[in-house]
Amino acid sequence: MINQQRLWNNLAELAQIREADVPPIGTTRRAFTPAYITGRQWLATRFAAVGLQVFIDAGGNLIGRLPGSDDALPPIMIGSHSDTVMGGGSYDGALGVLGALEVAQTLIDHGISLRHPLEVVDFMAEESTPLGSLLGSTAMAAGLDHDVLMRDVPGWGTLADALRRVGGNPDAVAQPLRRPGEIAAYVEIHIEQGPRLERADIVLGAVTGIVGIRRADITCYGQPDHAGTASMDVRRDALAAVAQLIVAAEQAANRRTGAVATVGALEVLPNQSNVIPGQVRFTVEMRSLDMVEVESMWHEIHDTFVAACAARGVTFAIHALHDSQPVVFGESMISTIESACNAAVGTSMRLPSGAGHDGSMIGLIAPAGMIFVRTKNGRSHCPEEFSAPDDNAASVRALLDTVRALDTMVD
Ligand code: GLV
Ligand code: MN
Ligand code: MN
Repeated sequence: MINQQRLWNNLAELAQIREADVPPIGTTRRAFTPAYITGRQWLATRFAAVGLQVFIDAGGNLIGRLPGSDDALPPIMIGSHSDTVMGGGSYDGALGVLGALEVAQTLIDHGISLRHPLEVVDFMAEESTPLGSLLGSTAMAAGLDHDVLMRDVPGWGTLADALRRVGGNPDAVAQPLRRPGEIAAYVEIHIEQGPRLERADIVLGAVTGIVGIRRADITCYGQPDHAGTASMDVRRDALAAVAQLIVAAEQAANRRTGAVATVGALEVLPNQSNVIPGQVRFTVEMRSLDMVEVESMWHEIHDTFVAACAARGVTFAIHALHDSQPVVFGESMISTIESACNAAVGTSMRLPSGAGHDGSMIGLIAPAGMIFVRTKNGRSHCPEEFSAPDDNAASVRALLDTVRALDTMVD
């Protein structure tokens, strides 16, 4: 029933809307940029053309609503995000939004009505930005703190201003936008972004849960000096202290099973070969399905850094960027998705997600689940990211089946 070519064309068209002023590799459409806003205007036009009622909620989430035959029921929500990382691919997020749109269009094309309203959502700012991540789904499920909204980040401004630019309302997000019971269920298609499905030669997976993530933005303050004349005993090298943290993070994750830790962004000032690094701003993040492991990794990394800074007379300021608890999806949702995947491609596999997703926030207030699609060479967050047209179409068939099953199962 679903139109594979239409899905493929939509993916290709959205991928063309990208930031022009960044290195021209991959697809870059970072949240809040003009390209992101253009991409969402394109999406809103598509949503409306299909016949969905389009609105942007106070949390900046773009939503297309298809009324249900019992429109007083809470909606079934499907979707993902249209923002990308710098130099990312064309499927992470985009497949989930456009796959959800394809489900809505298929229902409309075939005159199939659901009891529940259906909401196709493009969550605002899922990827990590200096203003935070999972921002739209956090606004929806938990609300956004005043401090988070008002922090002024060089080059980005405040989240309150950024939220206004994408059509949200920072004055109306202190409280969660939806309460438990106000979303009947949430299901998201996403590329796996790892190698497990491909290695098992299986197209689709039913996701069992999502890792917990802690991410911090840290600035380390040393002293810039001449790299030739400042002897080793007087220098206050901020980068040398950060280097110890980077190694500590790698070691902390290596000592544990299934845990990861990454320093992914680093800005060195003045970043000059013959000047001692006077200031370093960087991010560090830790992930595991077990939050106790995340906590203990953070303590190890933090203690090593405190000692490394003290030894060099450098100081630091830590700003918490993101903290999401691991989520375990409900058995009934996992098995509903599993049956739909089996019906679509004959077999499927259960697997957890090492990537963060909006489902970890929406899962706090509604039954949530995810369908993973096999990803070429397990590569993602890079230009090589790819999931095949047949596989993408299969995931949409599975989502359509899941939605129809949930429509009869949940209230
Ligand atoms: C989102 O893609 C994340 O896992 O960082
Ligand atoms: Mn991503
Ligand atoms: Mn994603």
